[in-house]
Amino acid sequence: MSWDPKTYLAFGDERTRAAADLLARVAAEAPEHVADLGCGPGNSTALLAARWPRAKIDGIDNSRAMIAEAHTTPIQARWIEADVASWAPDAPCDVIYANATFQWVANHEVLLPRLMSHLVPYGTFAFQVPRNFHEPSHAIAQEIAGESRWRDKLARVREWWNVLEPEAYYALLEPIAERIDIWETRYVQTLEGDDAVYRWVLGTGLRPYRDALEGEEREAFLAEYRQRVAQAYPRRANGITLFPFQRLFCVAKKS
Ligand SMILES: C[S@@+](CC[C@H](N)C(=O)[O-])C[C@H]1O[C@@H](n2cnc3c(N)ncnc32)[C@H](O)[C@@H]1O
Repeated sequence: MSWDPKTYLAFGDERTRAAADLLARVAAEAPEHVADLGCGPGNSTALLAARWPRAKIDGIDNSRAMIAEAHTTPIQARWIEADVASWAPDAPCDVIYANATFQWVANHEVLLPRLMSHLVPYGTFAFQVPRNFHEPSHAIAQEIAGESRWRDKLARVREWWNVLEPEAYYALLEPIAERIDIWETRYVQTLEGDDAVYRWVLGTGLRPYRDALEGEEREAFLAEYRQRVAQAYPRRANGITLFPFQRLFCVAKKS
């Protein structure tokens, strides 16, 4: 599926806040080898490089456009185009970090233990995933996709909702982790400008719908979504649109 770094970074500060909140709970002091899975245009990798300037940092992403954008930054990292579902590091990592990536990757029951196996003993695994799939921003897209005009073409789009319950992540990691820190935060994003929620979701959650349609059909779908989502998230008199957004965080220290 196509990613557009510019659309994604339109709300770069807001999106990177969760990356910083996740990193703040990682205790590793001087890791030698750090991997940023789903590094995107490098916004999360920049935080890792600033925190651990001496570490060897790998930024991994399966989007050519995102990796190309990351290459244009001054961040000291190796940029690697690879799918995290099959990625393996060239040497075990001290920290494996993934901010806002795993919601796009299936089968966490297999993925997470496999990634933990790529850590050194007592290494740290840290990830954050959105848990807002029942909020209007997503429910409206699904509602439109279920209408007769779109149903046939969009029936399979929902498959990317891979996120598990917090208790399931705990149970998955418990046998292989010495300590697990798991929590949720419901941010209330304050977004500026017209059609703010539409523009936010266009860079992420709407991509699978957009990619499954072409031409006029795509435009009609997006116009319908834009109108309904503007009603669900009205812009306030001061120009701000409030966008509640729940996220799940997990930091596990390997046994
Ligand atoms: C929402 S962005 C997160 C970017 C950045 N980590 C951040 O904190 O803002 C998700 C990134 O995950 C990447 N991604 C999605 N599925 C992937 C996969 N299977 N393998 C590697 N990267 C993937 C996408 O290309 C995209 O750049």
